Amino acid sequence: MIISLIVAIAKNGVIGKASGQMPWHVKDEFKHFKNTTLGFPIIMGRKTFETLGKPLKERLNIVVSRNQNYKTDFEEVVIKSSLQSAIDYCKELNPEKIFIIGGGEIFKQSIPLADEMIITFMKFDAEGEIKYPEFDSKQWKIEKTMDHELFEVFRYKRKK
Ligand SMILES: NC(=O)c1ccc[n+]([C@@H]2O[C@H](COP(=O)([O-])OP(=O)(O)OC[C@H]3O[C@@H](n4cnc5c(N)ncnc54)[C@H](OP(=O)(O)O)[C@@H]3O)[C@@H](O)[C@H]2O)c1
Repeated sequence: MIISLIVAIAKNGVIGKASGQMPWHVKDEFKHFKNTTLGFPIIMGRKTFETLGKPLKERLNIVVSRNQNYKTDFEEVVIKSSLQSAIDYCKELNPEKIFIIGGGEIFKQSIPLADEMIITFMKFDAEGEIKYPEFDSKQWKIEKTMDHELFEVFRYKRKK
């Protein structure tokens, strides 16, 4: 099972606002996110889930919260109390790939576990307090997969 991270990062490293909002809305980037993740399990932090407000369609949504009593109104959403237990749950389902979709706190813990990262670099700065964690790009084989007026997409594959 491939563990993949998917993220969009502004030029200044910002990925979101502390209030939960995304600082930008770029339709084509959202389309890329949807096309890439469709059909695969997705794991996200409780804050990112609450920002979305509802599960993303046609994907198994797994939310992690340390709060053992955390509940959502959506019975199809799976809640796990640790990132590792969320990953272990996916392993039992044996999908080809899973996507860890954020946010900042979850990315920080997931980079060491990831086999690949699908990173969109937006071509503009954004306002916000949540940044993508720093990582050592020498550990990754990098391939550009998309070039758009407003963003570029790269696939980072962990070197063996
Ligand atoms: N640009 C992008 O691609 C992108 C993608 C996703 C999100 N975002 C942005 O990122 C921001 C949210 O990021 P964030 O760092 O504030 O929050 P987050 O990572 O979405 O969620 C953090 C929460 O996840 C739970 N959690 C974290 N680690 C855990 C662990 N090991 N075990 C169990 N639960 C764990 C905790 O929930 P409890 O407090 O309930 O215990 C924690 O408060 C928003 O602004 C959002 O828009 C951007």
